[in-house]
Amino acid sequence: MARGIDIGTMNIVSARQDGGETVFVQQRNSFVEIDYSDMAEQMLSRSDVLHIRKGDDVYVVGDDALNFANIFNQETRRPMSQGILSSEEKSAIPMIKLIIEQVLGEPEQPGERVFYSTPADPIDSDLSTLYHQKTLESFLGDMGFDPEPINEGMAVIYSELADSNFTGLGISFGAGMTNVCLSYYAVPVMTFSVARGGDWIDEQTATATGQTVDKVTSIKEDDFRLDFTTDAGGVEGALSIYYDNLLDYVIEKISDEVNEEDVEEGLDIPVVVTGGTSSPAGFESLFEERFEQASIPFSISSVNKVDDPLYSVARGALVAARSEEGRQQQQAGAEGE
Ligand SMILES: Nc1ncnc2c1ncn2[C@@H]1O[C@H](COP(=O)(O)OP(=O)(O)OP(=O)(O)O)[C@@H](O)[C@H]1O
Ligand SMILES: [Mg+2]
Repeated sequence: MARGIDIGTMNIVSARQDGGETVFVQQRNSFVEIDYSDMAEQMLSRSDVLHIRKGDDVYVVGDDALNFANIFNQETRRPMSQGILSSEEKSAIPMIKLIIEQVLGEPEQPGERVFYSTPADPIDSDLSTLYHQKTLESFLGDMGFDPEPINEGMAVIYSELADSNFTGLGISFGAGMTNVCLSYYAVPVMTFSVARGGDWIDEQTATATGQTVDKVTSIKEDDFRLDFTTDAGGVEGALSIYYDNLLDYVIEKISDEVNEEDVEEGLDIPVVVTGGTSSPAGFESLFEERFEQASIPFSISSVNKVDDPLYSVARGALVAARSEEGRQQQQAGAEGE
């Protein structure tokens, strides 16, 4: 059975099909360093907290990192930044490997196919995604899988736009990046990313308000609404300002790119927005309002937000993997006749 995995700056999510159901497993792509003691080591070994010991340090990894960070008054650290493996956290390679192993488990048979998400190269920074993509490919290969990269924006199209023949604009508003893909009958016409997303909002808000980034992230993820009426001067007010700014920035880049790409005029296409950063109430309507004002050479038939934005990319990777598997089985069947 083929699988999908979304390896994101903040969340790593795997997807597999179990009968009529898609099963997702998720962990936060983060870790925290705590001082080593025999007591801590014993406690952790008896619990199901993911952790790694390196010399005199113990690292708590994944979902539990945030809890431990709060208790020990530390900031969490992340193996990835701006969509790719972080050059500042080279020592974090074992942590991200552990998280990938935990969410994916072992292959059901050697060489099981897994499609893994990779971002498009960003148009607003000179970061390259190649090293990241190749390194993940080798991790997954070492685990016994047969890995295949899939562009994050294209995964959104596979996941959310089946009903419109995989035609439309898919946007994944993640933590480290925003990935955009325009697809026409499942053929990507334009894919790009910008190196800004939820982390950028959190960092700007933390700087503006003097709060820690972890604190801002918690406030944002806990029932924050984009309504621009509350909390001027507070964290939520600052979050609204930077959300607004991110949307303007992304839409301006989409407009620049489609105008440059000579996309056929007069198309009428659906737009789907997803990714954790699209979660707050009010996001969809703000996006729609801004998008309608932008200079875009095609018309928009609808703007939709998805129900479970953290799972779209993993689901899309699974759809792509299963459709390849289906084609191969058909081919094998035809050859056997
Ligand atoms: N309920 C929520 N409200 C607001 N923001 C949220 C919510 N839940 C998650 N987020 C934010 O969404 C982002 C994570 O989204 P997602 O998992 O789609 O990103 P990612 O795939 O890990 O990152 P990337 O694609 O950029 O590598 C983080 O910035 C997180 O704080
Ligand atoms: Mg993502």
